[in-house]
Amino acid sequence: MDNDLGNYRKSYEKNALLKKDVPENPLELFQKWFYEIDNHFAIDEGNAMTLSTIGLDGYPKNRVVLLKKYTYEGFIFYTNYESEKGKAIDENSNVCISFFWHSAERQIIIKGKAEKIAENLSDGYFESRPTGSQLGALASNQSEIIEDRKALDDKLKKFEKKYDNKEIPRPKYWGGYIVKPTEMEFWQGRPNRMHDRIRYQLQEDYNWKIDRLQP
Ligand SMILES: Cc1cc2nc3c(=O)[nH]c(=O)nc-3n(C[C@H](O)[C@H](O)[C@H](O)COP(=O)(O)O)c2cc1C
Repeated sequence: MDNDLGNYRKSYEKNALLKKDVPENPLELFQKWFYEIDNHFAIDEGNAMTLSTIGLDGYPKNRVVLLKKYTYEGFIFYTNYESEKGKAIDENSNVCISFFWHSAERQIIIKGKAEKIAENLSDGYFESRPTGSQLGALASNQSEIIEDRKALDDKLKKFEKKYDNKEIPRPKYWGGYIVKPTEMEFWQGRPNRMHDRIRYQLQEDYNWKIDRLQP
């Protein structure tokens, strides 16, 4: 097989990231960009982000998860604590999350530390989920091998029967992580590959050092 993609080429021309657009706190720039992609660019699931962890096998692994909340403290997503990513975070809490919003020609890369959120916060979010998603969380030992699709569907049926018309408790192995950022980079595509890159790094005094990087 020999598929040459060398002529896939695009000029990025929609926006710029200039000093006047760069607040002292990167969470404020995140909020501005998120608002813009939500309201002005037709981006489906703009809260989908790539989460990278360093696995127990020593390899990095990326997968997409959904950002469910962000505050000045960090970025929250929900998952199975016993999944491959959960085990990786137990061993090494350094993670990276990133967003690529192609119709805005923007990328954000965030390095940080992942921590489990308080149980009552996970309870609150779990309760807000549709019943089907709650049952799905119960029925899936995420990242474990299962013999076939039927076995998975049978597990779901078992839980549907067990919790018919009953409140579904949050399984202890399912909950949220907050990624507390230590570095955030904002990338805005520009013509001729002369992109704007602004990097924030958290300092010991909790101020953010801001640098422009070459594209
Ligand atoms: C658009 C999209 C959203 C997803 N959202 C989540 C999520 O919020 N939480 C989650 O655990 N998995 C989510 N997944 C599935 C993960 O990408 C991944 O398959 C799963 O978490 C198992 O990963 P692991 O085996 O590396 O732990 C999503 C996948 C896609 C494509």
